[in-house]
Amino acid sequence: MYDFNFGSQEDIRRSPEEFLIFVKRLLPRWANGIPDSECVAIFRALEPYRDSGSSLVETGSGASSLALFLHCALYGGTMYSWDTNASKGAYLRSVASDAIGRVLGVDVHKIWRFVAFDSTNPHVGLPVMRELNITPVFGFFDSWHTLEHLTLEISQFTEICASRATIAIDDAYYTKRYENYSYINMLRAKLGLGSVQEPVDNVCQPYYVEIENLLKSTFSRVEKIEDSYKQDFQSDLFFEYFESDRYFMNQLGMEQKNALAHRFDAWRVS
Ligand SMILES: C[S@@+](CC[C@H](N)C(=O)[O-])C[C@H]1O[C@@H](n2cnc3c(N)ncnc32)[C@H](O)[C@@H]1O
Repeated sequence: MYDFNFGSQEDIRRSPEEFLIFVKRLLPRWANGIPDSECVAIFRALEPYRDSGSSLVETGSGASSLALFLHCALYGGTMYSWDTNASKGAYLRSVASDAIGRVLGVDVHKIWRFVAFDSTNPHVGLPVMRELNITPVFGFFDSWHTLEHLTLEISQFTEICASRATIAIDDAYYTKRYENYSYINMLRAKLGLGSVQEPVDNVCQPYYVEIENLLKSTFSRVEKIEDSYKQDFQSDLFFEYFESDRYFMNQLGMEQKNALAHRFDAWRVS
């Protein structure tokens, strides 16, 4: 049951970011994959699309889904999420419905489509938006963290998105070209196995550099958003709250403390 009380509809409309964080903090760690400050930065990046009935896209569901869902519930529009983990979709839908849909009087099924499959599949992945006649204006990409996968997702998105759109990515400081050795080593550690060495040719430039170059080769105008995450992340409680888990992730290279300012990056393109 996630029907905890924050206040009335009017209270939520007055303080939507506080409400978003209130709901985010109800999530367990496995579904709460981004810092609070990043969740708010996503919500703020959606400001230009308020009351426009626009469609939003994300790959890799979790707290980010709540930011997109709250935007749609308050200001209209629809959202599409891809995540290979179907249970995460079912769980997040129940949180969105209980904690947000109930008090705002919106039906989660009318706003949110969750596709429990590979985001890049040609038949049910991002390209399917064309068949559905949907032209998304916003994409947040946070699924399988390799440059190869991210590049494919963003290329597929740019083929179907609106002529003016926003593209945002998580873990933008990552430098993993074709395999995510940090993730693999995290799974190996759980199996009691030692780490495997990352091959030198797996290292690319940070995603925020690689993706900006990709966008510049696709769009005539690419404008970096001055997102609020970069101002707020240092005082974000999230990092302290999950300190022990993050210490482990740091050791395996899943998180790099000194690169955290580029954990989130976003661009407006046209
Ligand atoms: C880092 S988590 C997402 C965190 C989430 N954005 C949040 O705000 O909490 C990555 C997710 O991507 C999903 N995933 C991994 N590979 C995928 C793929 N090829 N297509 C779609 N989802 C994928 C995983 O199941 C996982 O739930």
